[in-house]
Amino acid sequence: KNVAIIMGGFSSEFEISLKSGQVVYETLDRSKYNPYRIHIFKDKWVYVDESDNEYPVDKNDFSISVNGLKTNFDCVFNAIHGTPGEDGFMQGYLELLEIPQTSCNMYQAALTFNKRDCLSSLKPYGIKTAESYYVNLGDVIDEDAIIAKVGLPCFVKANKAGSSFGISKVYKKEEFKKALEVAFKEDDEVIIESFLDGVEVSVGVIMYKGEVTVLPITEIVSNNDFFDYQAKYLGQSQEITPARLTDEQEEKVRTAAKKVYEVLKMKGFSRSEFIFKDGEPHFLEINTIPGMTKASILPQQAAAAGISLVDLFGNAIEECLK
Ligand code: DAL
Ligand code: MG
Repeated sequence: KNVAIIMGGFSSEFEISLKSGQVVYETLDRSKYNPYRIHIFKDKWVYVDESDNEYPVDKNDFSISVNGLKTNFDCVFNAIHGTPGEDGFMQGYLELLEIPQTSCNMYQAALTFNKRDCLSSLKPYGIKTAESYYVNLGDVIDEDAIIAKVGLPCFVKANKAGSSFGISKVYKKEEFKKALEVAFKEDDEVIIESFLDGVEVSVGVIMYKGEVTVLPITEIVSNNDFFDYQAKYLGQSQEITPARLTDEQEEKVRTAAKKVYEVLKMKGFSRSEFIFKDGEPHFLEINTIPGMTKASILPQQAAAAGISLVDLFGNAIEECLK
């Protein structure tokens, strides 16, 4: 099977995506799959061969031609974090071309990549969330109204972003201006959430051999003020798998994470973040293209479940080809 591993993308997460994609490329079982690295950038879509030569992708049918020999792909392994891989664009394009891909479908990707809309969709299903306040670029900002709704400290987040780009923790009213500037660099919509002071966990839920499977849970202990970019990728955090939860806490968060996956009609990989408050898991967000870098959480969770990376990635391909 010819597998195109798409990586890169148009967002601040492109470097993380190149790392995730490279891990997939190096891991896939070559006796079953012919992996091709496809770099997707705003100004070029290219196939990158073993010697780093680049060949343009034909966007009409997502094929490549090398020395007059054309290759089509049986499926796409989607490793693009952020736009256009995690927000529905590539999903829509590939669905139209009838090329299976490893992530969820177009609408699910668009919905879940939008933190505000995802939270709004889940609340009626009884999924608990932080208090939130939404602003768009150009709105007159009423800091007092924000504080009245979410309290201090609070989190100011870009509505559509990942890897903690565009996120700040705000302790006092005077800090909103800077925090909003940082968030608006990533997106023209911003979400402001109350600070939940409790244990933070990350829950991988994947379709594995035809079953919705909750992986061992990871507890996040950040040395920084929160689980920011440095904590995520530069080792400034402790990630403890399995998380130190009581049986009751574990049961609650497993149930919530599975429900989120099912309610949203997910496919493939996902990793949801929760913080416990008053003993209840509160949902922060779901990532549908979780990081697969050496520092990333989902591969650690798979390992804790006894699933090797070769098996994890092979399974993703087999699931999407069903
Ligand atoms: N957005 C990053 C890659 C993650 O969720 O792992
Ligand atoms: Mg995220």
